[in-house]
Amino acid sequence: MPKTTIQDFMKKKAGGKKITMLTAYDYPFAQIVDEAGVDAILVGDSLGMVVQGLENTLPVSMDEMIYHTKLVTRAVKNAMVVGDMPFMSYQTGVADAVRNAGRFLKEAGAAAIKLEGGAEVADQIRAMTRSDIPVMAHIGLTPQSIHRMGGYKVQGKTEEAANRLIEEARIVEDAGAFSLLLEAIPMALAERITAELSIPTIGIGAGPHCDGQVLVLHDVIGLFERFVPKFVKRYANLKESALKAVREYREEVEKGIFPSEETSFK
Ligand code: KIV
Repeated sequence: MPKTTIQDFMKKKAGGKKITMLTAYDYPFAQIVDEAGVDAILVGDSLGMVVQGLENTLPVSMDEMIYHTKLVTRAVKNAMVVGDMPFMSYQTGVADAVRNAGRFLKEAGAAAIKLEGGAEVADQIRAMTRSDIPVMAHIGLTPQSIHRMGGYKVQGKTEEAANRLIEEARIVEDAGAFSLLLEAIPMALAERITAELSIPTIGIGAGPHCDGQVLVLHDVIGLFERFVPKFVKRYANLKESALKAVREYREEVEKGIFPSEETSFK
């Protein structure tokens, strides 16, 4: 099966088929997500919180993102890999943005990048697209704006805020984005944006009417406990299984049960 392309994203929207996306940050989990047939893997800067144990995503660096994206692309056979532009890798200007976005494709083997923001990053999206770097835009709750937004809050709740988001969606589409991630907005607003745009929308906390869905893998499999947003569905509890296994190992070593003769050399 060939790798998922941005054209496949468009075909899925045209055919009314849902696009599936999850994050992954390393080889073993990228292999699982890919084998499960998920269309696209986002190497999200959420790794700052779910892998590095940081308070928020702001300290994550370009070099860290490139490192994790390399681990993911090494494992993936079919999914489209999207590298997430970390804070201050694109806000500082168009030249920085194109150079850093290019690193995801050139050094790490990603097929596309994602950045947060609307009108304020339209020049960056235009320049990246002109440089053959496919861009997924991201509006609504943008975690890199945590200090401006005053926390992780649902966006677009008033009519004025909703209209502004509709306008931002049009702007990033016009600038050349191949898809748009909508985070934590009312589902009716996401439905309206999805109907108005020709590019696919990928929702996270944006209801069922988006063209596709994304979640943070560690939320889905129960490996991140600090907080669980309302929009998350947990499909497994790996923390519990891993804890049980590690406890059993410790007990068996302490009691002299492991290693046994079978796991020893004669
Ligand atoms: O960094 C991330 O994981 C994200 C989420 C919206 C999926 O941007």
